[in-house]
Amino acid sequence: MLRKLVVSAALAVAAIASMTGGAAAQDTIKIGVVQSLTGQLTAVGKQVMAGIKLYQEQHGTTVAGKKIELIVKDDTTVPDVARRLAQELIVNDKVNILTTGITPASFAIAPLATQAKIPAVIMVSGTSSATERSPYMVRVSFTLGQQTGIMGDWAFKNGSKKVVAVQSDWAPGAEATAVFTEHFTKAGGQVVETLKVPLANPDFSPFLQRARDASPDTLFVFIPAGQAGLFVKQFIDRGLDKAGIKLIGPGDVTDDDDLPNMGDGVLGTVTAGFYSAYHQSPTNKAYVAAFKKLNGFRPNFISLGGYDGMHVIYEALKKTSGNTDGDALINAMKGLKWESPRGPTSIDPETRDIVHNVYIRKVEKRDGELYNVEFATFDAVKDPIKAAKKQ
Ligand code: PHB
Repeated sequence: MLRKLVVSAALAVAAIASMTGGAAAQDTIKIGVVQSLTGQLTAVGKQVMAGIKLYQEQHGTTVAGKKIELIVKDDTTVPDVARRLAQELIVNDKVNILTTGITPASFAIAPLATQAKIPAVIMVSGTSSATERSPYMVRVSFTLGQQTGIMGDWAFKNGSKKVVAVQSDWAPGAEATAVFTEHFTKAGGQVVETLKVPLANPDFSPFLQRARDASPDTLFVFIPAGQAGLFVKQFIDRGLDKAGIKLIGPGDVTDDDDLPNMGDGVLGTVTAGFYSAYHQSPTNKAYVAAFKKLNGFRPNFISLGGYDGMHVIYEALKKTSGNTDGDALINAMKGLKWESPRGPTSIDPETRDIVHNVYIRKVEKRDGELYNVEFATFDAVKDPIKAAKKQ
């Protein structure tokens, strides 16, 4: 009888332990990292993971006395896969925190974060509404509107009057063009045509031909990281630079990852971006040097989502003394301020969105390499779409 009791008590304890992840789990904080490591946007996943890796190399894998365990999953650039992997990470691995990547994957994971009440740190998505899809989402990447609204104002002031817009045909592309168009037309300019290029395996040539036929003075372009090299090659092959058409856009089109191999045809391209590998701060110089040493390539704007995303997670855990309660962590993330390699950065406590500087940059050669050289700064820029909704 007594033996039976002891056995069943032991079983009960084991059952509870397995339900809560066990006592050992209390000393380990699990972070489920769902990113696009293969598929259409592999170039994005590569930079995020490189940023995460550098952060952990510099800051270790113990925070607030707890071991940080990363469980990395490849969403293959397919949102349904991202959803399934996040579900498995929550149910089977019992992760305490998730990180998400591109927009469709972030949208797919948002309802799961809400259900499980665990923070989901958006490391890539640039679509405004991603943070509105769950109160547990915090963005450390960027929004396209932050950059393209500023680009619209700047372009008109600096002589552009007639624009053709070329956008990659998905949510961030639609937002990039919409915010640009709003600002540019309000300033007095005209967007005569908006051309939508498929996201998968794009061939820009026919779109560039159509754009050229409309004889704009300026081409506004949003394409995602990883497609810039091909885009600029086709822009030059089609002779748009020789035709005197200016190329402008958010920072994606002169992505630091592709820029070194773009050739001199891209010189003089002006973009509005939140990060340049050439940003002249001691923090960024140290970041670029350490990043290149560890990963063997130049960091681009996407890498910051990984690097700063880990910073936000580590700082929040320090503030909660390792408590992984979802609400406590989200509260700890709200209002965080830090010096990122991109510049001064914070999390807006009201919207859980990133606030950072946006720089106007021009492609120039420095030390024999192509860089985005910043020449004007807009301080502490919030997502304009959310700001407009508030009014
Ligand atoms: C996004 O997923 O929203 C995204 C990805 C890559 C970019 C920009 C936006 O370059």
